[in-house]
Amino acid sequence: MEKIKPCDFIIFGVKGDLSKRKILPSLYYLEKTNNIHNNTCVIGVGRSKWHKIDYINMIRKSLVTFLKEKINEKIWLKFISRFKFCNLDVYYSDNFIKLKKILDQKNRVSINYCAMPSSTFSAICDGLGKAKINKKTSRIVIEKPLGTNLESYNYINKKILKYFNESQVYRIDHYLGKETILNLLAFRFSNSFFLNNWGNHIIDSVQITVSEEVGIEGRIEYFDKTGQIKDMIQNHLLQILSIIAMESPKNLNTNSIREKKIKIVRSLRKIDYNNINEKIVLGQYTFGKINGINVPGYLDEINLDKNSNTETFVSLRVDIDNLNWAGVPFYLRSGKRLKKKFSEIVIYFKNLPINLFKEFNKKNFQNKLIIRLQPNEGVEMQILNKLPGLKNKYELQLTKLDFNFYRNNEYKTDAYELLILEIMHGIQSHFVSCEELEESWKWIDPIINGCKITKKKPILYKSGSWGPEESNFLIKKDGREWNKYN
Ligand SMILES: NC(=O)c1ccc[n+]([C@@H]2O[C@H](COP(=O)([O-])OP(=O)(O)OC[C@H]3O[C@@H](n4cnc5c(N)ncnc54)[C@H](OP(=O)(O)O)[C@@H]3O)[C@@H](O)[C@H]2O)c1
Repeated sequence: MEKIKPCDFIIFGVKGDLSKRKILPSLYYLEKTNNIHNNTCVIGVGRSKWHKIDYINMIRKSLVTFLKEKINEKIWLKFISRFKFCNLDVYYSDNFIKLKKILDQKNRVSINYCAMPSSTFSAICDGLGKAKINKKTSRIVIEKPLGTNLESYNYINKKILKYFNESQVYRIDHYLGKETILNLLAFRFSNSFFLNNWGNHIIDSVQITVSEEVGIEGRIEYFDKTGQIKDMIQNHLLQILSIIAMESPKNLNTNSIREKKIKIVRSLRKIDYNNINEKIVLGQYTFGKINGINVPGYLDEINLDKNSNTETFVSLRVDIDNLNWAGVPFYLRSGKRLKKKFSEIVIYFKNLPINLFKEFNKKNFQNKLIIRLQPNEGVEMQILNKLPGLKNKYELQLTKLDFNFYRNNEYKTDAYELLILEIMHGIQSHFVSCEELEESWKWIDPIINGCKITKKKPILYKSGSWGPEESNFLIKKDGREWNKYN
């Protein structure tokens, strides 16, 4: 375990949604588990002309709402005593002097967490630079989405790298802090059983599904300009794909892991206007029922542009052109207002060339490994075995080896708790490098342009369904079907 060091932890946008929902509760949890140094300060930055007491009330309220447990008063007092506040509009770089005065002037680590819209990141960098608080010991944390295409990403990135080195930049994709994603590395590279049974010699296909019950939850303006491809595929699903497909890294150091992940993104077969219709299905939800409750359609919900063609669902076939994965399709699927909230990876193993048991079992069977990201984080392996008893000679039954990562009442670590701790320790392996992001935009841009060129429109699907029927055809035409969630 790394030694905890003191730091100045600055939250730009402390009264914003992300801060209330994730950052503040995670910091409280780290306090409770003694993972914050006694001399660490938290500095909340906001634009509103708030007094200290308004901020404290807001922090208390957000903990009451978003903590998974009741506030412990002793921990609360220690936690809140760390806080200082600074009202400043980041577009006025002169104001950053105010912030400088609050910071510890010794040469200790300062963490600048930008919990603000990405349009403000370059102003924050300019302000920190102008006030000379972008010291070598400082770190900058930025949230997705970074850019809306390769060009805008390059612009933001260039700005950040003008004031910080890559080793100081922490680009968050919170999926990388999820226990099951971290476990993927452990699972793949600590078990010889999996290490040697991974790749096109044994795997038939892979499915990655991230299914949401919620709609756009008030993020109308952001989402309507973004859509599901950029909101989910460009980041979370590509990250999962590259961890599943990457070769074994030399060690667990940041650069070794990143190097192997980038190789996968670089090997993705291009999807553009030439092949977009055979590779991708887009959808948009309409009125329907989720868990028995009526929910409005996307166009009624957004009330902005009744002609909006923004996709709320996407499924696609992705191919990796390298020796290890050639011929193994990766099917990716993600959508809003679907029947159930769940995320899973399903690895289908190839059928045996000969079925010795066919006299007793007519059905064709494929071994499956299901890695559940949520709910019930864990792994399920589906195997065949002989039905016990004298009567049954070689009649087979399907058995599920199922294990959860958590025991019954064990605390489930939130991705942000882990990621914030890693930032405090200065470890970057669970953050996205500038090269990875650049490669992912290089792959996504032709898809977005291809949709525009071919005037591809989303197909309507009922809220509470599994998306448009065409998504089933996409995979059926390859002789496969989506794993049935139960
Ligand atoms: N919310 C989530 O669950 C979530 C999830 C993943 C990623 N993200 C990303 O996280 C970032 C923050 O999202 P959010 O939902 O928390 O946004 P938000 O609720 O809109 O909060 C943004 C905060 O930024 C402050 N702010 C805006 N302009 C400012 C300026 N010029 N100077 C100083 N402060 C300013 C606002 O302060 P005032 O209120 O005082 O104006 C507000 O508190 C975004 O990049 C978003 O894409 C959010």
